[in-house]
Amino acid sequence: MINIKSKREIEILRKTCSLASQTLSFLEQKLRVGMSTEELNSLAHAYITEAGAYPSPLNYHGFPKSICTSKNEVICHGIPDKDTILKDGDILNIDVTTYLNKFHGDTNRTYFIGNVAPEVKKFVKVTYECLHHGLAQIKPGAFTGDIGAAIEEMALDNGYSVVHEYCGHGIGREFHEEPQILHYGKRGTGDELVPGMVFTVEPMINMGKRYCRVLKDDWTVVTRDKSLSAQFEHTILVTDDGLEILTAWEQEPDFS
Ligand code: MF3
Ligand code: CO
Ligand code: CO
Repeated sequence: MINIKSKREIEILRKTCSLASQTLSFLEQKLRVGMSTEELNSLAHAYITEAGAYPSPLNYHGFPKSICTSKNEVICHGIPDKDTILKDGDILNIDVTTYLNKFHGDTNRTYFIGNVAPEVKKFVKVTYECLHHGLAQIKPGAFTGDIGAAIEEMALDNGYSVVHEYCGHGIGREFHEEPQILHYGKRGTGDELVPGMVFTVEPMINMGKRYCRVLKDDWTVVTRDKSLSAQFEHTILVTDDGLEILTAWEQEPDFS
């Protein structure tokens, strides 16, 4: 069942989603070569709880930390750790989900650490464009499959691949609700979009092949071929004539 959010629920979703975005901006300012992902986790935990919210990942199906930090060949669900140190040339995805007034808001971005190689910059930029190409499909009467098809087309045209095993999701009172938003597939398939639906779009794009593997910690998802993986995520509301990005960032990324 896909639930349609009421005006009152949408008001709360705007607040929790905006807190998730602000948390990302705050963490972005703290990024430094030599810091650990555990430090980012502590900063995020303090920021979110001081705002009167709860970090949704913490204890979610046993996840041990407050944010996900996924570096280089880690696709998603990387666990912050004191021994994972940011190095010059790395790429790092930070995924923040906040629970405020009983509603979740979910957003993530991939950041450059120090000086990143030009071909890696291009890869991360295309991943961002994949998200926006997917979002551009959203309006009442379109299908979830239109989003996936647009994303897949852009990724493959650039010689990259789309991870199939993890997808976007409805969000609200639950962290993960229906519908599923695949980041690949065929136009006109899946669920028809209706005003009041709230879901995430969060394509995971690999520089090499699409295949993944979960590490022995049962969380960390990595590329099988050890190629780099990048991701961007927004939570959106389907409106009468298109969409509203509920997790809009204060500043768009600069890929230069
Ligand atoms: N925030 C992730 C998503 O975009 C989910 C993380 S689940 C966790 O759906 F348990 F790893 F935190
Ligand atoms: Co999500
Ligand atoms: Co997320």
